[in-house]
Amino acid sequence: MTADALGTETHASSETSASTAGQAAGAAEAIAARATDLVKLYGIGDTQVRALDGVSADFARGEFTAIMGPSGSGKSTLMHCLAGLDSSTSGTVRIGDTDLTGLSDKQMTRLRRDRIGFVFQAFNLVPTLTALENITLPLDIAGRAPDREWLDTVIDRLGLRDRLTHRPSELSGGQQQRVACARALAGQPDIIFGDEPTGNLDSRSSGEVLSILRAAVDEFGQTVVIVTHEPHAASFADRVIFLADGAIVDELRDPTADSVLDRMKKLESL
Ligand SMILES: Nc1ncnc2c1ncn2[C@@H]1O[C@H](COP(=O)(O)OP(=O)(O)OP(=O)(O)O)[C@@H](O)[C@H]1O
Ligand SMILES: [Mg+2]
Repeated sequence: MTADALGTETHASSETSASTAGQAAGAAEAIAARATDLVKLYGIGDTQVRALDGVSADFARGEFTAIMGPSGSGKSTLMHCLAGLDSSTSGTVRIGDTDLTGLSDKQMTRLRRDRIGFVFQAFNLVPTLTALENITLPLDIAGRAPDREWLDTVIDRLGLRDRLTHRPSELSGGQQQRVACARALAGQPDIIFGDEPTGNLDSRSSGEVLSILRAAVDEFGQTVVIVTHEPHAASFADRVIFLADGAIVDELRDPTADSVLDRMKKLESL
């Protein structure tokens, strides 16, 4: 993720949070993100890859979704398109009631800054800032004051209290990942996207990250979407979407690690 993805563009505006009155807005508000017929092609001719082959999916507000599937099945591509970090070849993405297709770069930057949180495997922390400064950076850029109580909860739950004054180079990989997670959670965005957010973590740090994402959903009505290869991580979600060859091939509600594993085996044998 670039600095731009974090929303370093400084003009404050309410443009992207404008909502329309009436029933249509009510319906849209129940959906945090929606992909419709997403197709993503990379390259041309013989070497062309169809990374997404017509994906349609809704991500309801206050729901935790895990996206699973074999390597190369399009998980990261889908997430990047949903989060406005990449554009699709065709199809549409909505975040709340905003259609990303028509947005200018500036509007897209603002939308990412104000309404989306990211936890990616490459943590993208700013090396010259302390852990605390990294956590509050998107809020500082947006000119918003953090909710102190929530910030304290996030910091304590992620075990970062005694690391706040350290720079990323003085933190372990797991601690850096947790700082990135805290940064995504701090602003209570409309939706949090994590691409293998626990991929580099030991089981304890992984559990801390997953349980705070779960708490953000249960206690604060946040919407979370993660990509994961781990059935245990997926079991924290409300539902699992399975991708294969750029298409959704299955969905599982209220997953357990065992039911996810069973489904993965079934899909592999097809
Ligand atoms: N920039 C790119 N240029 C060309 N092909 C790409 C590009 N990015 C991804 N692809 C291809 O698109 C397909 C989907 O890639 P994607 O990164 O979405 O997979 P993934 O499901 O996230 O895999 P993994 O589990 O390994 O992270 C793959 O075949 C990949 O090689
Ligand atoms: Mg990936």
